[in-house]
Amino acid sequence: MSRIVYVNGQYLPEAEAKVSIFDRGFLMADGVYEVTSVLGGKLIDFDGHAVRLARSLRELEMENPISKEDLLQVHRELVSRNGVEEGMVYLQITRGAPEDRDFVFPDPETTAPTVVLFTQNKPGLANNPAAEKGIKVISIDDIRWGRRDIKTVQLLYPSMGKMMAKKAGADDAWMVQDGHVTEGTSNNAYIVKGHQIITRGLSNDILHGITRAAVLRCAEEAQMEVVERPFSIAEAQEADEAFITSASTFVMPVVAIDERKLGSGTPGPVAARLREIYLEESLKQAI
Ligand code: PDD
Repeated sequence: MSRIVYVNGQYLPEAEAKVSIFDRGFLMADGVYEVTSVLGGKLIDFDGHAVRLARSLRELEMENPISKEDLLQVHRELVSRNGVEEGMVYLQITRGAPEDRDFVFPDPETTAPTVVLFTQNKPGLANNPAAEKGIKVISIDDIRWGRRDIKTVQLLYPSMGKMMAKKAGADDAWMVQDGHVTEGTSNNAYIVKGHQIITRGLSNDILHGITRAAVLRCAEEAQMEVVERPFSIAEAQEADEAFITSASTFVMPVVAIDERKLGSGTPGPVAARLREIYLEESLKQAI
């Protein structure tokens, strides 16, 4: 069965879905995106993703072409038409396709944004065996632009970072700026020391993860101490535990950083517990 995707108001088989070669997402990475996970056929943290999407659009002076209610409806329709039980919904909005290539933004009166959504089926997302084993990360320089709080489709460097990790026999990369970890290539980064969960505070240096917000809420409800401050790779290598969070990995333990094992080199109890609580809470609130 061919996947049904959404393009500018239409539901189409993926092979029939098309966007223009002049689309600014394609030519200039002039677009934003969201990834919302699906568990049990329901959307996790939909509201948070919709709010962040609206903010990303605002920050780039792009009009929001779709209301939250309509967006929810499209997400649900795609999940249902494609029979997704576990997986993700990917959404992308670009500044649209003017008649020619031009650095100057097109007039929104004449150029409508491009709205694309598709699903990715990922059975086993919640019971991911990687969570039992943990992942290995390497450190790389963070050479991205200064507005990482906007979820743009400029993903070349994160993509190169994943490739650097792969070549080094690791699973992901943590990016470092001025001696401190900013975030993972597509996730937020944390360490655990004693009773403290330490993660960089929110600023333009990192994406304000929707999973991050939910996990920190879970941690506080579970009486765990959360400290928002920068940390270095050296400090992380001495930590008791480390983990990442994102809509596609939830809470994922990190067991080695630059080939240095953390503790015994197996996932720690704090990450495991947070994963459990986060999944439980998210499922309760899924819509
Ligand atoms: N990535 N930091 C970066 C750079 C990210 O790309 C992501 C998400 C996160 C975590 O955000 P959230 O918890 O809202 O998913 C942090 C998505 C999953 C992706 O690009 O596929």
